[in-house]
Amino acid sequence: QHKCQRKRWFKRRLTFGRVRPLQLYSCTNLQETSQELQSGGDRSYPVPREYFDRVTNHHINNIEQYMLLYNHSILQPDEFWSDKAKQVLSWKQLWDDQICSFNFDVEKGPIFCEWFKGGKLNACYNCIDRHVEAGHGDQVAYYAEGNEESADIRGYTYRELLDYIERLASVLKARGVHKGDVVAIYMPNIPELVIAMLACARIGAIHSVVFGGFSAESLANRLLDAKSRVVITCDGYKRGEKIVPLKTVADAAAELARETLGYNLVEHKIIYQRLNSKEHTATMDGHVDEWWHEALSKAEKHCAIEWMDAEDPLFVLYTSGSTGRPKGIVHTTGGYLLYAALTHRYAFNYHPGDVYFCTADCGWITGHSYVVYGPLVNRATQVIFEGVPTYPSADRLWKISAKYKVKQLYTAPTLIRSLMRFGEKYVKNSQRDSLTLLATVGEPINPEAWKWFSREVGENLCPIVDTWWQTETGGHMILPPPVQGFYQKPGSASIPFFGIVPVVVNEKGEELFGECEGYLCIKKPWPGMFRTVLGDHSRMESTYFKPFRGYYMSGDGCRRDKDGYYWLTGRVDDVINVSGHRIGTAEVESALIAHGSVAEAAVVPAPHDIKGQGIYAYVTLREGEEPTEELRKALKHAVREHIGAICTPDVIHWAPALPKTRSGKIMRRILRKIAELGTNVTPNDLGDTSTLSDPQVVDMLVSLYGK
Ligand code: WT7
Repeated sequence: QHKCQRKRWFKRRLTFGRVRPLQLYSCTNLQETSQELQSGGDRSYPVPREYFDRVTNHHINNIEQYMLLYNHSILQPDEFWSDKAKQVLSWKQLWDDQICSFNFDVEKGPIFCEWFKGGKLNACYNCIDRHVEAGHGDQVAYYAEGNEESADIRGYTYRELLDYIERLASVLKARGVHKGDVVAIYMPNIPELVIAMLACARIGAIHSVVFGGFSAESLANRLLDAKSRVVITCDGYKRGEKIVPLKTVADAAAELARETLGYNLVEHKIIYQRLNSKEHTATMDGHVDEWWHEALSKAEKHCAIEWMDAEDPLFVLYTSGSTGRPKGIVHTTGGYLLYAALTHRYAFNYHPGDVYFCTADCGWITGHSYVVYGPLVNRATQVIFEGVPTYPSADRLWKISAKYKVKQLYTAPTLIRSLMRFGEKYVKNSQRDSLTLLATVGEPINPEAWKWFSREVGENLCPIVDTWWQTETGGHMILPPPVQGFYQKPGSASIPFFGIVPVVVNEKGEELFGECEGYLCIKKPWPGMFRTVLGDHSRMESTYFKPFRGYYMSGDGCRRDKDGYYWLTGRVDDVINVSGHRIGTAEVESALIAHGSVAEAAVVPAPHDIKGQGIYAYVTLREGEEPTEELRKALKHAVREHIGAICTPDVIHWAPALPKTRSGKIMRRILRKIAELGTNVTPNDLGDTSTLSDPQVVDMLVSLYGK
């Protein structure tokens, strides 16, 4: 009955019929504006002509062709996506009759979205096996650049990856991992992390990668939420000068999970040895722990592929929202894989043979889509980097780019800003002539950083591809295509990718047209979209589809200019974007409150030169507690222990009381303003405080600013 209901919805709604071809932007407007790169303002710059001299193979020839493809993708989505799916992926069996069925309207029934249902494929096969079968086994898939700088080049070929993946997959199977089980992966950014992900994909297990910077408690929460009985981790690793003892943290997490449940959840840990024993010795528990190298050397060399339905889950990845615990965002196999690959191919004009380098860690969605799945489907050769961009010195990225002759570099605005601070000399010291395309993700790139990146790093020769997307979207949604005739505007993510119908809506959920500002929503399904929140579908519906009926709500505000370009203006919910990482204020608040001395806490974003946004925490202490520097340190430490270092508050502002409405709601708007007092905000800018139950609280907080 369920299925039949879905089909009806499909018939009624998925004609995409009411979508008109978009006039994305008007070339005439743009060509009139000046193209001087050094000049400021909302100017537009054509994709540098030199880019087309230096790179001659293009997937898309010019903006006219881009527009044709775009319009095709939204007017005839079935045809467009079916062609692409056959062209980009290898299928064991093609899908049933329908490309996509969906419902985005909460009033009409459950929210769902399915692509290529009935189609059979395997992600690992598409990323690895088929390239080896086609004779590319000796091609390097990853150059592994470790934390320490070294002259040698360590490459992993597609054939080598396949060998490790098959062995690890056999080990997982032998330990009782079945299709649909969730395996947790807690590792540094090394090829073995990719191997672990693909070993899961090979046997139909769902991977849950937890960023290596998260605490034992965060890991434990994720293990519990997904009921992971197997954890793949490593003894420890070096990050800059520091040793991170991952296994110790994983042990503590397993213990926390055991305490919570009253029985042992984690039955197996597989530990990759990354440190030598002089640096760190992991204590191995013979019942649970086994070394990766020992297990693999004894393992079955071949492991059969589990053919999955296009709609079977591929992975879960946790991300923070405005309330409660992080949500387990679930992506499925067919649509996600296609979308990651297609965006990677077009956004970076990627061709096999190019060396591509994405600086993201596989612990985040950028790593999933643009270090693992997208590039591997496209048979890429990549650099995977374990370390930090400033170790041993601030020219590390440029040295890596020169060492491997990187063509496309994909990084984050926060990183660019932090390197800008060290000055041009670090950049100029290096040879960067292999670089042809530069790209960013994670937050809006401020025009100053955009220009620095373009001028100092790219020598004005490279397009800058500023990609807007989210964990939930699976792949790029809005970006400036690096094609002839396209005009880039620094700071604008620009125009939608194929198949994406962005809309700007007002408070009431009404679509706005032309130049406007409001909430960024997406109107039609796309293959890479997430399908649910693990174990809590209603949370998916209420977070993303209830706010504005009929639309996916991104959580971002945006402006659309007269040329149809989108300018992202930041989160509209209680999420802080710290260095491109999403941090829920509620999570930080509960970590603070968990400290015995805290009565109440409110966390807001504050502008930060490098991180984009910093974490600014107002803390009300319990009776009898003294606001000392020591306590400040202890509170920061508490957050670090509870969640992880990236969530450490930058500022703790002592608050004898918090500004509340008469109904007891904390007025965050005012707290945000006070946190901005260090910039050009003055106490006069705090806005209306008359609805507060005690307006004097505000003066008191202002007087305590910086104390
Ligand atoms: C949030 C998503 C997508 C991978 C990295 C972060 C912000 C991301 C941009 C951009 C402006 C951006 C948004 C978005 N964001 N890229 N190019 N311009 N804002 O993934 O952790 O899911 O965070 O990052 O606010 O909602 P995420």
